[in-house]
Amino acid sequence: MELDGKEPGDPRPVKSLVVVFSYHHMNTEKIAHAIANVLDAAVKTPQQVIPDEIREYDLVGFGSGIYSARNHESLIELADALPLANGRNAFIFSTFGAPVALFPGERLKGFIRDNHSALRETLESRGYTVVDEFACAGFNTNSFLRFFGGLNKGRPDADDLRHAEEFARSVKRLAGQENKVADRGTVGT
Ligand SMILES: Cc1cc2nc3c(=O)[nH]c(=O)nc-3n(C[C@H](O)[C@H](O)[C@H](O)COP(=O)(O)O)c2cc1C
Repeated sequence: MELDGKEPGDPRPVKSLVVVFSYHHMNTEKIAHAIANVLDAAVKTPQQVIPDEIREYDLVGFGSGIYSARNHESLIELADALPLANGRNAFIFSTFGAPVALFPGERLKGFIRDNHSALRETLESRGYTVVDEFACAGFNTNSFLRFFGGLNKGRPDADDLRHAEEFARSVKRLAGQENKVADRGTVGT
């Protein structure tokens, strides 16, 4: 078997794609690009993704702002239209407009998990393993908030982008551990 100079067990490069829907203040798009730079991934909107082409990727990130307590419908609809993934790795990310102060300590994690639950359940129903999830605050001028200057002004900020990069490095490590040369029988075939 041709291993291209690599030993069995060496991590193969993780081919990654980041899918993002962002429109309110393009907050989530900033996070998408920070993550994509670390993963060396293309960034596409759900509308640009052809469901069958997603089979090319080892790792796919799905992100959007939070609208009415869930990810954007176009992302959930895309997830629902994907071919069965057989345990392939995915991750979820978002920006939310609620003030972080409303969710002290561990409650923030619960809030984020609840926001992501419709997308997570859809991805899992298509056979994806959701390896990790990320969220941070995003500028929010929805509805009456615009009359008061909005919430989370300046977010995502430099710290949020740094946290998103750290998240991407961690997800890449997790996905890489499962993506060993010869493990999936694709090298040299
Ligand atoms: C129509 C609409 C509904 C929203 N609903 C919520 C919500 O339920 N919970 C929340 O925390 N933020 C909510 N937000 C705020 C957005 O999640 C936040 O501003 C986010 O960063 C927007 O991301 P984007 O700029 O990538 O679109 C809402 C914003 C809009 C425009």
